[in-house]
Amino acid sequence: MDLLLGAVPFPYEDLREFIRDAERENELQLVMGAEEELEIGVVTEVMAKKPLPPVVLFDRIPGKPPGFRVVSNLFNTEKRTARVLGLDDSLTGIRMVRAWKEKLEQRPVVKPVEVSDGPVMENVLKEDEVDVSRFPAPRWSKYDGGRFIGTGCSVITKHPDEGWVNVGTYRVMVVGRDEVSINIAGGKHGDLIRKLYWERGMNCPIAISLGQEPTFFVMGGYQLTGWGESVFDAAGGIRRKPVKYIVSELTGLPIPATSEVVLEGELIPTWVKSVYDGPFGEWPGYVTPAKKCPVVKVKRIYYRDNPIIQGNPPLKPPLPEALAINVVSSAALWREVEQHVPEVKGVWCANEGGTGGVAGFWVVVSIKQRYPGHAKQAGLAAAACRAGAYAGRFVIVVDDDIDPSNLQEVVWAVATRCDPEKDIDIIRGCWDSPVDPLLDPKKAEEGDITNTRAIINACRPYHRLASFPPVATADKELVEKVLKKFPQLSGDKRMELPAHR
Ligand SMILES: Cc1cc2nc3c(=O)[nH]c(=O)nc-3n(C[C@H](O)[C@H](O)[C@H](O)COP(=O)(O)O)c2cc1C
Repeated sequence: MDLLLGAVPFPYEDLREFIRDAERENELQLVMGAEEELEIGVVTEVMAKKPLPPVVLFDRIPGKPPGFRVVSNLFNTEKRTARVLGLDDSLTGIRMVRAWKEKLEQRPVVKPVEVSDGPVMENVLKEDEVDVSRFPAPRWSKYDGGRFIGTGCSVITKHPDEGWVNVGTYRVMVVGRDEVSINIAGGKHGDLIRKLYWERGMNCPIAISLGQEPTFFVMGGYQLTGWGESVFDAAGGIRRKPVKYIVSELTGLPIPATSEVVLEGELIPTWVKSVYDGPFGEWPGYVTPAKKCPVVKVKRIYYRDNPIIQGNPPLKPPLPEALAINVVSSAALWREVEQHVPEVKGVWCANEGGTGGVAGFWVVVSIKQRYPGHAKQAGLAAAACRAGAYAGRFVIVVDDDIDPSNLQEVVWAVATRCDPEKDIDIIRGCWDSPVDPLLDPKKAEEGDITNTRAIINACRPYHRLASFPPVATADKELVEKVLKKFPQLSGDKRMELPAHR
């Protein structure tokens, strides 16, 4: 049975239902006539900076058939993120993280269902008909070294021996009529799988969905599943409804039946063919230089009538209200840390630290300290687990009186409870992203994509908990007692000024 949250049906069948929902909520901005060359990118960025950024749907893109569209700024508010995750859409901040974590924990395995046909098969281009340039592919920023057709894509590969299906989001650049490049960072499951094929002298079968049902997209793009776990099953579990797929006669890969566009083909080993992909404006907020990436030979294109390409260009953080999707990573990290560390009260991956399907450079973990070394253990766990290991920098551990999502409180805790000499540890040689602006280009060129982590213990020293100076603020009980005496002071109303003033 579908979960009904007010007027919002969950789960969505496809991307279009999500967009229709945004329209119903008056959160859709239609833009006609914007060019692929920079204009779509600029409008996306400008709209993302609005206090309540709308979903932006671009149509009548010059040079493309009318109805061939691009959509951006999908999940840029907590409300829309909540709708995609099937949560109560009045939730915000750490309460929303907690609700999403519970949902992740309680999800059943719901196997996908094979169907013989679906909207994605409305149009099929084979062999000589294959032409990627039919579809809009924006140059999102003036620094981009190409047209990026895949920024909000779901890329499907299959383990060659074990048969489970992986889905991840990796940026995809147009190279030619039947070629795109794909930028999968080393160590991602998608990277490990492709290498299993390449080591055997084979190309890696691949299907790139360029617009898809949003819950499925989220389950693939945010490090929510472990090695060996099918993203199709996991997405079904969150949806409480199976994902429908069609088995491709070409590669045997599952093609999501309601996807907008799917490019299918083979990912060729880098040593056989590679191209420079980028530069590209990346999630930390800086331009990443071009790097050599492998090429996908596209052999088939499936697409719906009037297809919609999903755009998720990583915009410079922080954005007001935007990238509310960091809730997704926060819950995933909380869940993993909690498996090893007791009494974790909250985890927050700050938008300010960047969030492109990763925990980002600024992670805060709140704990109720129970034993000496507890805080250090929490920090190390957050820096090392699946959801937090990649591309981190600062992990800050705070006591449970600090809301980890309230950066003002976090700064206060660091300023007053962290003795830099004793409480900051540096861990070297950690798994990093090639988009880290601090990476030494020479090191990166040699393949050393590693960085350092600071584990900042901003908890009161455990052995001094009893004697640490009390926090100089009135406690809740006293506030309630006093306000009972002056009920006019509750709420936002000002007390009337005395007559003599
Ligand atoms: C919008 C978006 C863009 C992303 N772009 C990339 C990318 O270009 N390369 C990459 O390696 N990961 C990228 N990621 C992160 C991966 O998709 C994410 O880590 C995913 O869980 C990897 O899955 P895997 O480990 O199963 O391969 C992106 C995530 C999102 C949400």
